[in-house]
Amino acid sequence: MEKVSVKVCLGTTCFVMGSANLQELIDIVPAKYGDKVDVSGVPCLGLCSVDWEFSKAPYVKVNNEVIKEATVEKVLSEIDKQLAK
Ligand code: FES
Repeated sequence: MEKVSVKVCLGTTCFVMGSANLQELIDIVPAKYGDKVDVSGVPCLGLCSVDWEFSKAPYVKVNNEVIKEATVEKVLSEIDKQLAK
């Protein structure tokens, strides 16, 4: 099975909008899913400028799904969805 990839945006906009809280995913995800999921912090995903007017930062990408206004709960439930595919 392909690994699910999780990219937590740590760019300035997302960081200011709360991705600092999402950094705990970097500990939680490997503890919960082991090597089925790869999680990493990445620089600006380029989404904040596209969507700036309605900025929905922080953004997290789970495979190709973009999660807006990401929270730990939203990210974990998307990971479960991707793993169930
Ligand atoms: S800072 Fe996160 S998408 Fe730009």
